Amino acid sequence: REKYKILLRDMNKTAAAYFHYIMRHTEHGKKAYEYFKGRGLSDETINQFGLGYADIYRDDLYRYLKGKGYTDAELKDSGLVVIDEKNGGSDKFWNRAMIPILDINGKVIGFGGRVMGDGKPKYINTSDTVVFDKSRNLFAMNIARRSRRKGFICCEGYMDVISMHQAGFDNAVASLGTAFTFGHANILKRYTNEVYLAYDSDGAGVAATLKVISIMREVGISARVINMRPHKDPDEFIQTLGSEAFEERIKNAESAIMFEVRMLSEQYNLNDPEERTSFHNETAKRLAQIEEVLERNNYIEAVSNLYHIDKSGLTDLVHKYGIAG
Ligand code: GTP
Ligand code: MN
Ligand code: MN
Ligand code: MN
Ligand code: MN
Repeated sequence: REKYKILLRDMNKTAAAYFHYIMRHTEHGKKAYEYFKGRGLSDETINQFGLGYADIYRDDLYRYLKGKGYTDAELKDSGLVVIDEKNGGSDKFWNRAMIPILDINGKVIGFGGRVMGDGKPKYINTSDTVVFDKSRNLFAMNIARRSRRKGFICCEGYMDVISMHQAGFDNAVASLGTAFTFGHANILKRYTNEVYLAYDSDGAGVAATLKVISIMREVGISARVINMRPHKDPDEFIQTLGSEAFEERIKNAESAIMFEVRMLSEQYNLNDPEERTSFHNETAKRLAQIEEVLERNNYIEAVSNLYHIDKSGLTDLVHKYGIAG
């Protein structure tokens, strides 16, 4: 069993080297290289992440790996190849810019493949295999866990992580084209209880942030939210405004609770007395969940100042909702 995992990791490593070689040494590969360069990545970053290119041919990787002695069954189990009874083996990835996914020990376990341009689907990822469990692996965790920076930065995308690392934020990780899970949170928790969230600034990103905040809270991690506005994600932010501006945003990251209350506030028209009352009630419910007395009082103070709510009124309301603990 363990031997078979080693075989599958070795095969993924061979494929990563192959994709990288194809990118750097073939005419077709130039397209992928230019794609990554066009997105602001340096040669050093391209090499560090082992980026590559899956060629336009439908079975070149299949034949290359067969040549290395792997059987159809092994090739199928790696997720790199699709085996069809009638037509034989064919590559899962073709004509895509390839991003190897490494496990926490730095072993290649899968790939994300991006279409170069506006085609769909934008990304194809290796499906789960014996060595690749999306709910238990975080992209770039092998690097981030050795970072000297404080805590981790959690984001949505591969390119976000790669851009952040290039800009010096080598504590950035991402879940792999899937939702952030308790499995992910527990991995982070082994190293720190401090996590910055840098999800996209669109509606989906905000929803994801709220979800991740509650997962983090449950495992005992205190999350802070990095504001990406007016940009869409960390990659675009850094490519446009640079690393110093991003550092500034990290410094000014909002606490999870203030972010949650702000998102609540945006659901109401605060000039309407009735809606404003609803906002106060929902906010009080949220604040009532804070178990620590001083912490709760500090947030009551901060919230009443920020939203111009009468402090003793808000305090009464919080108590009405029954404080936790
Ligand atoms: P870029 O356009 O390359 O900057 O990607 P992005 O990371 O900004 O894309 P987006 O915010 O749309 O998606 C975030 C992450 O979700 C990606 O990095 C992928 O891991 C995943 N993802 C995006 N599109 C797809 C898709 O079509 N299929 C799958 N399986 N995952 C996707
Ligand atoms: Mn191919
Ligand atoms: Mn997104
Ligand atoms: Mn994005
Ligand atoms: Mn992006």
